[in-house]
Amino acid sequence: MVDGDLRMVAWNQKFIDLFRLPPSLMRPGVLFEDIVRYGAKLGEFGTDSNIEDLVHARMESLKRVEHRRFERKRPDGTVIEVRDRPLPGGGFVALYIDVTERKRAEEGRLDAMRRERQAEQLLVEAIESSSEGIVVYDGQDRFVVANSCYLEFYPDIADMHRPGVKYEDVLRASVERGESCQLPPGMDKEAFVQDRLRSFRSPSEPIIRRMAGGRWMQFSERRTPGGGLISLQTDITALKNRESELILSKDAAEAANRSKSAFLANISHELRTPLHGVLGLAEIMRDDPGTAASLETYQDYAKLIHDSGSHLLDLINDVLDMSKIEAGRYNLMDEKMSLGRVAESCLAIVACRARDGGVNIVKRLDHTMPAIRADQRAVKQVVLNLLSNAVKFTRSGGTVVISTSRDPAGDVTLSVSDTGVGIAADQLSRVGEPFWQGDDSHARGYEGTGLGLAISKRLMELHGGAIRIDSVKDVGTTAEIWFPKARILN
Ligand SMILES: Nc1ncnc2c1ncn2[C@@H]1O[C@H](COP(=O)(O)OP(=O)(O)OP(=O)(O)O)[C@@H](O)[C@H]1O
Ligand SMILES: [Mg+2]
Repeated sequence: MVDGDLRMVAWNQKFIDLFRLPPSLMRPGVLFEDIVRYGAKLGEFGTDSNIEDLVHARMESLKRVEHRRFERKRPDGTVIEVRDRPLPGGGFVALYIDVTERKRAEEGRLDAMRRERQAEQLLVEAIESSSEGIVVYDGQDRFVVANSCYLEFYPDIADMHRPGVKYEDVLRASVERGESCQLPPGMDKEAFVQDRLRSFRSPSEPIIRRMAGGRWMQFSERRTPGGGLISLQTDITALKNRESELILSKDAAEAANRSKSAFLANISHELRTPLHGVLGLAEIMRDDPGTAASLETYQDYAKLIHDSGSHLLDLINDVLDMSKIEAGRYNLMDEKMSLGRVAESCLAIVACRARDGGVNIVKRLDHTMPAIRADQRAVKQVVLNLLSNAVKFTRSGGTVVISTSRDPAGDVTLSVSDTGVGIAADQLSRVGEPFWQGDDSHARGYEGTGLGLAISKRLMELHGGAIRIDSVKDVGTTAEIWFPKARILN
């Protein structure tokens, strides 16, 4: 307690201890200024100014003491709270309370709060920077937080995501609005909602779902220890697309492999049959003691061996052509050529066989047809195969018609029709498949390797054209090839 003249009136031991005041100083009537000065020397009021200035400042503030309360950090790091209170007759009472402990606790609390806020901030940033959609619900299935990635996945229900909104309400809104949600096939809305609610309440494996607009999403949901739910949603559309591309190319590779195996199996079969013929006849001739067979028989044998040999040569040539085309190494030698002339030269080749088989050949060649740009050897191979098929599969007394024309669209066509055995409707789609020879081609003893149309088809495709086969069983067949306008020379 200090009187109006700023002299000390009373103090307690705590005061002396707190400021470590020497007993010599603490005489009754000591000037408060002396105590302030003593404290100032010990750095009680800081070290910014000189002692007398500090003392002066403190004393000035005590001339008009008001009710006040402030804290002061002391040189030893402790903190005191100072409470000055004016006395009615002048002077004042000052209270000094050591608040170091309280301050420390307070600071600790502030620090903890700051750290908590930082951690929260970090968490929010981590969630935000994720390229996965993240959404969190609490133990009562109420929405807590979602990152913007999640909200971008579901723009139609973004407005539903307010803290406290129930998951079921969000889900139902999504099903009703239906912009991002697509019901699995064969599932109605209510069944879907119930299904989702079940997996939301006890999530297990990640779910992959197709969303509206063809997007694929993967949902990984986990219950948190506190009973809440965290759902991670990843857009796996790119992954899915790559997966289906891989499946497609794997299927294509397998199909190619299968057809290659089938092709090889066919070739070995086709080679073996005539080779057995050749070897069998050669054995008979080798083992003949020289008496059994007449010269005529030997000539027959030689003819059979020759036929088998030329069949093998045809087959090998066809296989070589085929594999060259398949490998993309068949280069067209484009030249100016006339379809009519090619038809004539092919007719000359089959004429003899047609005559022998009693097949009538009718020519309907349009001589005003423009020339075309094509590989003459390839076109001849195609036309010859069509003509020889027609002659081969037509019985005695039947007719084969070969014609050329320009169709209304301007494309050039050549067609060969016959009144032969025809092809069953259910078999028509197999025409052009390597080695396919019709159910009874072999049985009826028709010659051929079964590669003619397969090669023809590919050769026409190389020209940018096509081959078309129409046929009615036991009525006849029409085979037509056409070349695109780009190949017509005017
Ligand atoms: N004009 C036709 N009439 C009836 N069937 C036909 C006709 N043309 C083709 N076919 C059927 O299509 C099959 C395949 O014909 P393709 O020309 O490819 O082979 P191929 O004539 O048997 O043998 P090659 O390889 O010697 O031509 C024939 O075996 C036959 O069953
Ligand atoms: Mg043929």
